[in-house]
Amino acid sequence: MQMAEPSVQFDREAYVDLLKRSITNFHYLGDDASFEQFRCVSHYDLDTGEWKIDRAALPATLLRKGQLDLIEQAVVWIEANQVPGDYIEAGVWRGGVIILLRALLGAYAIPERKVFAADSFAGIPLNVRAVNDPVDLWTDRWVAGLDEVKKNIERFGMMDDRIRFVPGFFADTLHALGNERFSLIRLDSDSYDSVETSLEYLYPLLSDGGVMIIDDWHLPGCRMAVMDYRAHFGITDPIYEHDANAYWTKKGLAPLPGLG
Ligand SMILES: C[S@@+](CC[C@H](N)C(=O)[O-])C[C@H]1O[C@@H](n2cnc3c(N)ncnc32)[C@H](O)[C@@H]1O
Repeated sequence: MQMAEPSVQFDREAYVDLLKRSITNFHYLGDDASFEQFRCVSHYDLDTGEWKIDRAALPATLLRKGQLDLIEQAVVWIEANQVPGDYIEAGVWRGGVIILLRALLGAYAIPERKVFAADSFAGIPLNVRAVNDPVDLWTDRWVAGLDEVKKNIERFGMMDDRIRFVPGFFADTLHALGNERFSLIRLDSDSYDSVETSLEYLYPLLSDGGVMIIDDWHLPGCRMAVMDYRAHFGITDPIYEHDANAYWTKKGLAPLPGLG
């Protein structure tokens, strides 16, 4: 019996799905949960700020399937609409989203675009401007060093010159990106000050039609920083939510198709 050749479409879906399962460490941590339901933070003790698993078993990202799907659909939409610019995540922790973005460049045969990874690689600093942001009470500052992140990316075979690191606190580093242009900006830095600083330096670099993803929509400081920024600059592009993340497209037509 002759076996049918898998279609290119099938190969890509299977590859990207497997990658999402890997960076979340679902295959090891998932237990009886379906991948759709899986939350790696169920292995994290919110009270003590410590993981209940061996460090070697830590996932490369805290994101869950729906949030990774949102990134993929943003990339697909950007490509379909030929929005100019690179991708950046500000707040990368152990680098799982950077790994996914680099893999998507390959999976969708996207030429030239680069992936920027901006992080202190020393954790979330305390707020200076904002007061009463609950993030300041966290004992865990979500530290992952640059060497650790690079090793994670290398382990997935994704390290090359299409990944650019922007190490240091946003207030000291992001202004240096002024000549860059982005089609996708993903903010995942939790606190009011960090999100505000990221928006201040990065949002003007987002192309029209580009996608802005806000991870920490459930955190009051993050949400307030976004709403303050939008109000100050008169941004009225509608905000959409997907699996507890928020996003909008700059002067675009979201919601993104393909999210189910
Ligand atoms: C919750 S983690 C990010 C999670 C990650 N995106 C993932 O896929 O799991 C927050 C990250 O933001 C970084 N961060 C927060 N505020 C920052 C700042 N002001 N400057 C640089 N990095 C910052 C921290 O170092 C940490 O890596």
